[in-house]
Amino acid sequence: MDRTKRPPVVIANWKMNKTLQETTTFIQKFVSKLNHQSSQAYIAVSFTALKTAADLVKNSPVVIGAQNVSDQPSGAFTGEISAGQLRDAGAKFVIIGHSERRKYFKETNAMINKKIKLALSSGLKTVVCCGETLEERKAGKSEQVVEEQLKEGLSGISPEQCSSIIVAYEPVWAIGTNVAATPEMVQEVHLFCRTKLAAQFGDRIADQMRIIYGGSVKPDNCLPLMQQKDIDGLLVGGASLEVNSFSEIVNFDLG
Ligand code: PGA
Repeated sequence: MDRTKRPPVVIANWKMNKTLQETTTFIQKFVSKLNHQSSQAYIAVSFTALKTAADLVKNSPVVIGAQNVSDQPSGAFTGEISAGQLRDAGAKFVIIGHSERRKYFKETNAMINKKIKLALSSGLKTVVCCGETLEERKAGKSEQVVEEQLKEGLSGISPEQCSSIIVAYEPVWAIGTNVAATPEMVQEVHLFCRTKLAAQFGDRIADQMRIIYGGSVKPDNCLPLMQQKDIDGLLVGGASLEVNSFSEIVNFDLG
């Protein structure tokens, strides 16, 4: 398969885990295990660990980023962190619209759209999450939900800006449940997303955009997922917290 157009990317989402010491130990061990060939490795650390992690990866291909960003550029928003501040702390990318943010912090597609625009204008790569709940899948609404999330989330963004966006399809029912979606199921949704992205931004841009899958990805299920034509990478939660399992996923070997 020709992967040159869309080099595979494997992203760790550490969520609310790891102290500075644990971050340091992980990154030092992880960097020594990389084969540098299969995929690019990104790690989304806690805000508090950004600077430490960014300094540690300086001479390696690992990319450090954040898990959220404010939908405001600056000012009186107690507790919020802006895109500019993330850049300043060494972040190169940010995950936006994760289902945990949508569910627990009531993020809407409109808020997510504002966050994406601010992140892009600050020079952060953005990883934009979408995905249906179990009820929505059972009601046959997966495609409709994902289409709406992408359409509203990416509204008003230029095609050129879009080419650097990574879309992460994460069915909510597969996150943290040990029940990953099947490779065929994911391929079908990814192809659907690419078709919709092509309608919104043109074929050339849609062809360049990476669409990755997240939801109970483990070393023993990553290969068949990566064998699918429209799966350009993986977003890994639980299995990214251990050096061995995350490096096994990052170093996947399609043979
Ligand atoms: P999981 O989490 O790998 O633990 O299912 C994925 C995610 O929430 O990004």
